[in-house]
Amino acid sequence: MNVQKITNGLVIDHIRAGTGIRIFNWLKLDKVPFSVALIMNVPSLNRGKKDIIKISTVLDIDYSILGFIDPSITVNVVEDEHVVRKIGLALPEKVENIIKCRNPRCITSTETNIPHVFTLIDRKRAEYACIYCDEMYRAGIGEFL
Ligand code: CTP
Ligand code: ZN
Repeated sequence: MNVQKITNGLVIDHIRAGTGIRIFNWLKLDKVPFSVALIMNVPSLNRGKKDIIKISTVLDIDYSILGFIDPSITVNVVEDEHVVRKIGLALPEKVENIIKCRNPRCITSTETNIPHVFTLIDRKRAEYACIYCDEMYRAGIGEFL
């Protein structure tokens, strides 16, 4: 499928197939006044299928959260029809208030107003641990979206 090139804006590329719509909703792109495109199940050389989101304006995105959702994403910044910057994403070292600790005995479960903080403990396995109780969380399932 061919989707027009954009003149200025962002192309969020190499999104794991199936995750594009969740990112689209997370960025609230259904509510914006500018042109956006969600392209799903595009054949990809290295991973079978991928999703792509094209946004016709340079939106301010939290790249740390986007990297947590899918570290294989590349964000292309387009100016005057040319890709002027490619931002490779990665799993962030720390995530705050994105996922919640599931341990009922964790201080974040028993007390309110304590930030939910996880740190990356194994990048290859995408494993995070709660800083208070060490409860494990595996990234890349995106159920918090
Ligand atoms: N793109 C776009 N509008 C432009 C320029 C690029 O929509 N004016 C899109 C392309 O369709 C592609 C992405 O931005 O989906 C990245 O473009 P480019 O860097 O030219 O492609 P590749 O070299 O294939 O990128 P990569 O190596 O990251 O896969
Ligand atoms: Zn915990």
